[in-house]
Amino acid sequence: AKPLRVALLGCGVVGSAVARQLTDDAADLAARVGAPLELIGVAVRDVTKPRPESGVPPELFTTDAESLVSNADLVVELMGGLEPARTLLLRAIEHGAAVITANKALLGADGPRLYAAADARNVDLSFEASVAGAIPLLRPLRESLAGDDVQRVMGIVNGTTNYILDKMDRTGAALPDVLAEAQELGYAEADPTADVEGHDAQAKAAILASLAFHTRVSSDDVHCEGIMGITDADIRDARKIGCVVKLLAICERTPDGVSARVHPTLVPRSHPLASVHDAFNAVFLETALAGELMFYGKGAGAAPTASAVLGDLVQAGRHRVVGGHGPRESAYAELPVLPIART
Ligand code: NAP
Ligand code: HSE
Repeated sequence: AKPLRVALLGCGVVGSAVARQLTDDAADLAARVGAPLELIGVAVRDVTKPRPESGVPPELFTTDAESLVSNADLVVELMGGLEPARTLLLRAIEHGAAVITANKALLGADGPRLYAAADARNVDLSFEASVAGAIPLLRPLRESLAGDDVQRVMGIVNGTTNYILDKMDRTGAALPDVLAEAQELGYAEADPTADVEGHDAQAKAAILASLAFHTRVSSDDVHCEGIMGITDADIRDARKIGCVVKLLAICERTPDGVSARVHPTLVPRSHPLASVHDAFNAVFLETALAGELMFYGKGAGAAPTASAVLGDLVQAGRHRVVGGHGPRESAYAELPVLPIART
């Protein structure tokens, strides 16, 4: 079959891992998609930076992301930030490309605009990697549970802060030292204040609440407290009463509307969330029909995130080959966002 042209925007922690896999696993990916995935270019800020881990031939790097997205069948956005990511994704959609992104900041801020653009052009907009890294969570919410009613979503959705709080609890290390480790391991955002101040989890809570409750919740609707105020004394005090401190995202649907919040929480050591260590994530869902569901896995890092991105890429590629598209998100009902979410 005719190769599908893939444009990659960003070749950092996640982009490098995706690019490497596109080369190393090309034959298997082609078989799964039904057509070869041809990497036509990789947009970066600095084309002179050596990136041997990516396996990308130097001539494929470009700073001209606009031309790249205009010539692609599939656009994978792994640059992060609001701009130019938003403009590039809208341009790609306008050109009829399917788009895949891990950019929770953008989806939390402006998801409905992207969903509407993709629906209007009948193209896939996939973003499994934007919440909870490797864990298949958004596809179950968007597809498998589409006939159920989700009432509550609660979990650990930021790997960096879980790594920090877990290390503080287990070794007594200080927050700034552990944050530096999380950055070295590729878990943290380019600006790690997004992690420690809770904004990364806030954006993820907005995405989860929107998908779970079929409504529009933006990051600004989500109450947010980060972990910068948590001291080693707090961790010790929690231990004395049989608890650990975890940064939780909690999204709820009530008869009056929806609420979403992110804040440090005392979790009893007997609770399954207390056993979520390192940069792992875990999410509980409570639904009307399925009852309780639990999702667990690696929430950050190059390879786990690449797994989710590549899954979306294969699925979008299959749609290009055999027709069809993924679920639509632009037809959400407007539900009231409850005051707690705005405090
Ligand atoms: P990163 O290591 O900072 O890489 C960002 C890449 O994008 C770099 O290659 C950078 O180019 C390029 N870039 C940034 N701004 C650009 C611009 N204006 N024009 C062209 N290229 C630009 O980030 P990352 O950790 O891979 O994260 C990428 C995305 O995935 C973000 O949305 C992040 O939130 C999300 N995500 C990350 C993880 C994780 O564990 N790291 C997990 C899930 C989701 P240069 O290299 O030339 O600077
Ligand atoms: N910085 C994010 C985290 C990356 O630590 O969870 C995964 O979204």
